[in-house]
Amino acid sequence: MIVSHRSTGCRSLPGPRYDAPVNTKLIDKFGRHVDYIRLSVTDRCDFRCVYCMTEDMTFLPRREILSLEELYEVARAFTELGVRKIRLTGGEPMVRSNVMSLIERLGKLPGLKELLLTTNGAQLDKYAVALRAAGVNRVNISIDSLDAGRFARISRVGKLDKVLAGIDAAVAAGFERVRLNSVVMRGYNEDEVLDLLDYAIARKLDIAFIEEMPLGEASDHSREETTCSNDWVRSVIEQKYRLLNSAEKTAGPSRYAQVLGHDSRVGFISPVTHNFCADCNRVRITVEGRLLLCLGNEHSVDLRAIIRDQSRTFDDLKQAIIAAMDLKPERHYFYDAEHAQPVRLMNMTGG
Ligand code: GTP
Ligand code: 5AD
Ligand code: SF4
Repeated sequence: MIVSHRSTGCRSLPGPRYDAPVNTKLIDKFGRHVDYIRLSVTDRCDFRCVYCMTEDMTFLPRREILSLEELYEVARAFTELGVRKIRLTGGEPMVRSNVMSLIERLGKLPGLKELLLTTNGAQLDKYAVALRAAGVNRVNISIDSLDAGRFARISRVGKLDKVLAGIDAAVAAGFERVRLNSVVMRGYNEDEVLDLLDYAIARKLDIAFIEEMPLGEASDHSREETTCSNDWVRSVIEQKYRLLNSAEKTAGPSRYAQVLGHDSRVGFISPVTHNFCADCNRVRITVEGRLLLCLGNEHSVDLRAIIRDQSRTFDDLKQAIIAAMDLKPERHYFYDAEHAQPVRLMNMTGG
């Protein structure tokens, strides 16, 4: 039985609030402290995952995207304002040419506690060791199927073998943690939840199951038909394993549970059925330099215009970031007819 988000009826905001960091200068109207940025380094990708992109994608011209130097300056401004965690996203971060030179510089930013990467894994066999050496603490690797044919259907062009080799390389490189990310979709991979978890357990990896979000229009399917709730995913897992809810947080949206008797944790990222916005501690920067205050809303500030205006200073950039916090909306409203739905596809948003 598959239970879609429509039948869970749970849209309430969670109870206890995230344990707020004390040093950030970035505080929004709702008292949320922002100490985590998701920095997109490209809108391009060597895959075309059905939930993320359409088959025919047009990408941004080079002049419109931030240079590596501009990306570094944005990251520096945020860390000077108290940001302690930077996650690099895309598109696929590793397809940006010369991205390692940026990552090496970010790894040395004073005040930064965690440098993280979300990747499709296809190039990790080549880059895992260099990423670890550059100071990347943890990597999240997307994998939605262990069947080569299905993997190709979901990613449209991806090769499963490359990703499996990338996961092995990440494990060997000694990151603090490697987490797998799987978007569970009815009709695509919902019968693989246990196989994916078994694969993670065998390698002592964490795995997060993610509800598909309605970000832009999907071209191959209707999202409302494919979305599987994490309550259902959990019920499938509990037919085989005992899960113990964990209080541990990564300051990301995942709720973790320990798989009893094993070294793996299961993360549940449930933006559709369990709104987690009350705990939100993060903002995004798109590769065009747009500061997006929320994944599910359009509120944003054009940082690129400030960076490229010769009459503006680095301090102006920091002031604009502080002022932008007032624009951060309280929450997202996925599948709510009374609220506009996001039109941006994930690759333009940056994960
Ligand atoms: P950790 O730092 O390891 O906790 O990672 P993370 O879960 O924050 O990052 P990752 O890039 O692996 O994202 C996993 C999923 O969570 C992706 O589908 C993201 O789009 C989604 N996600 C991350 N932050 C948010 C958010 O603020 N709102 C929503 N709705 N989804 C988010
Ligand atoms: N809904 C949920 N997760 C998505 N991702 C990409 N598009 C979507 C979507 N529409 C996930 C990828 C990757 C992370 C960056 O975002 O699977 O793990
Ligand atoms: Fe590429 Fe990740 Fe989007 Fe898949 S989900 S197309 S791997 S950016």
